[in-house]
Amino acid sequence: MRTQVCIIGGGPSGLLLSQLLHLNGIDTVVLEQRSRDYVLSRIRAGVLEWGSVEVLRDAKVGARMDAEGFAHDGVYLSAQNQEFHIDFKELTGKQVMIYGQTEVTADLYEAREKLDGVVIHDAQGVTPNDLETDAPYVTYIKDGTEQRIDCDFVAGCDGFHGVSRGCIPTNVLKEFERVYPFGWLGILSQTPPARDELIYAQHERGFALCSMRNANLSRYYLQTPLDDPLEKWTDQKFWDELRKRVPDEVADTIVTGPSIEKSLAPLRSFVAEPMRWGRLFLVGDAAHIVPPTGAKGLNLAVSDVHYLYQGLLQHYGGDDDGLELYSERALARVWKSERFSWSMTTLLHRTPDQSPFDKRIQESELAYLASSRAAQTALAENYIGLPF
Ligand code: APR
Ligand code: PHB
Repeated sequence: MRTQVCIIGGGPSGLLLSQLLHLNGIDTVVLEQRSRDYVLSRIRAGVLEWGSVEVLRDAKVGARMDAEGFAHDGVYLSAQNQEFHIDFKELTGKQVMIYGQTEVTADLYEAREKLDGVVIHDAQGVTPNDLETDAPYVTYIKDGTEQRIDCDFVAGCDGFHGVSRGCIPTNVLKEFERVYPFGWLGILSQTPPARDELIYAQHERGFALCSMRNANLSRYYLQTPLDDPLEKWTDQKFWDELRKRVPDEVADTIVTGPSIEKSLAPLRSFVAEPMRWGRLFLVGDAAHIVPPTGAKGLNLAVSDVHYLYQGLLQHYGGDDDGLELYSERALARVWKSERFSWSMTTLLHRTPDQSPFDKRIQESELAYLASSRAAQTALAENYIGLPF
């Protein structure tokens, strides 16, 4: 088989890149190691920057998002039983869209199907080859038979545990990482959200986040020790702990119910440089990971896709500047989002090794944020998304 761009990974990055290229007449094949149902079973974050909203609309996958998503003006932050609102719309003129990544992925799959896009599931042993030549190819095994795809370019959209990043020689690849000494325990419950917008709660007992998917589907998170067994967290224990970490007036009105999903995830900041090696381009989680506190994971994948799609369009129009600049452009935005996600995480989470001085600094930073329009504007412009 031959295609112009072979895309490894059928998550949001791979599907969005494939959709945008297809709409512009560029041939792609997506190789996904899992089944479609498995990919769609993943529960991920739910905040879209407005730039991501516009890219999804350009990709003709924005209809359900526009119909079922919620445009939010801002978020609440709370500490010491006090809460304050940061009004992104008033401060920056922009909002964010609350729409689950699972829904984005489902919309992308539907769109790929409508265009007869080629997405090959259960592709095992995917191996990029000859990336430093102008004739790369990818092999994989499907139903026990080895297959080969000759292509012009390979897009590594295969996430943090994928095969692509490892194709960059170790003497070229630079990796930057910070692992946080806690995790997030998340639950999904068919209950109305705690508030009309998200609540990020700092507390002596640990961080809590009240989020949502729709008027009767809520998403909550608690900071927990990394070695906490999931079984320890019964629904009742979760709700009791959440109530202790949010302001009283929120705790008194939270509607609880059985969890329909419960999972524990570690937090890390990670960046791999460069995001290009010969004919291979790394996209999304294959190149970078952010702690979810800034809700940047999916949004960074979208901006990577935006830069690569533009570069490939230019290439097939005879101009290679976009591809030459891809890694530099993508990394410039990635690092700004890494900084923001790290700053939100250190602002809102207590760590076991925190000194009394550190705690006072954290408290004073939140007090400054509560009182300063300039500080709130800085947070707002990062949260709604810096320009592409
Ligand atoms: N061969 C084929 N497919 C692979 C391989 C491989 N060797 N390794 C991984 N994959 C697939 C995974 O099964 C997954 O479906 O690549 C896909 C990568 O998807 P994601 O991990 O979701 O990464 P990405 O598409 O970049 O989306 C980033 O997802 O993890 C969240 O927080 C993250 O919101 C962000 C978004
Ligand atoms: C979510 O709704 O899953 C969510 C929202 C905001 C975050 C992280 C996760 O910062």
